[in-house]
Amino acid sequence: MERRPNTDRPPKRRKRGKKTDIAKTALGAEPEKRGRNKTAPKKAGAAPRELSQHVKTAKQRKYSSTLWLKRQLNDPYVARAKAEGWRSRAAFKLLELDEKFSLLKSGARIVDLGCAPGGWLQVCVKAVGARGRVVGIDYLSVPPVPGATILEMDFLGEDAPTRLKEALGGPADLVLSDMAAPTTGHKSTDHLRIVALAEAALDFAEDVLRPGGAFVCKVFAGGAEGELLARLKHRFTAVKHAKPKASRSDSAEKYVVATGFKGQA
Ligand SMILES: C[S@@+](CC[C@H](N)C(=O)[O-])C[C@H]1O[C@@H](n2cnc3c(N)ncnc32)[C@H](O)[C@@H]1O
Repeated sequence: MERRPNTDRPPKRRKRGKKTDIAKTALGAEPEKRGRNKTAPKKAGAAPRELSQHVKTAKQRKYSSTLWLKRQLNDPYVARAKAEGWRSRAAFKLLELDEKFSLLKSGARIVDLGCAPGGWLQVCVKAVGARGRVVGIDYLSVPPVPGATILEMDFLGEDAPTRLKEALGGPADLVLSDMAAPTTGHKSTDHLRIVALAEAALDFAEDVLRPGGAFVCKVFAGGAEGELLARLKHRFTAVKHAKPKASRSDSAEKYVVATGFKGQA
């Protein structure tokens, strides 16, 4: 009698040593190739799996960290950033914003608030050239970026604005803020923190920008943007929202881009 396959039997487990070595393969491969998923559902119309790289579960790793790692390893922007030498995938967000709004000019003075790990700094240094000045601040340590001055301190600290201005050596053409406070899980606390950061960034921008200068700030949809927007519209000639393609679609993050600073009030 013909033997039929036992469909109740659990699938054979692959030998331990043969599992994909994520650290080696994920970031080394071409971005296009990495999207392929051998285990993706084959049925037409079936929802594609969101993540294709397998990540071993480690006892020490929290579930949320495993998810984060999976997302990183399957993110084509992460791979592209690695391949092109950018410190972070965030670099593509600024490149996209610049393409749309022509923000980065040769010889410009730029401040980058919340600059770690340094992707935006790299983009700015490249754009401003030898005649420009780029100053970044973060409370996390950032490995040096040739051509940029980096302050390792809390932007909300009392002496941060003075230190930034000293390092800048003149009025700024552009103030960037990609700052994001770590979330606590407590909605109203997180919300207040986000708003406070954006407002502090705008206070600083109003203080250092030259007339005609620009301000770019990360904001979150659903935040109390009303007041911030009203202020921006009052102080700048044009205010636009943008969600770069490199910004994850499942993130509420977007950027407000204000150009044509009207000068000190
Ligand atoms: C999304 S990351 C910035 C990524 C950066 N634009 C890049 O291209 O690499 C946000 C940064 O904001 C920083 N940050 C948040 N609050 C801050 C504060 N009060 N002072 C300084 N840095 C802050 C965080 O430490 C974090 O490194």
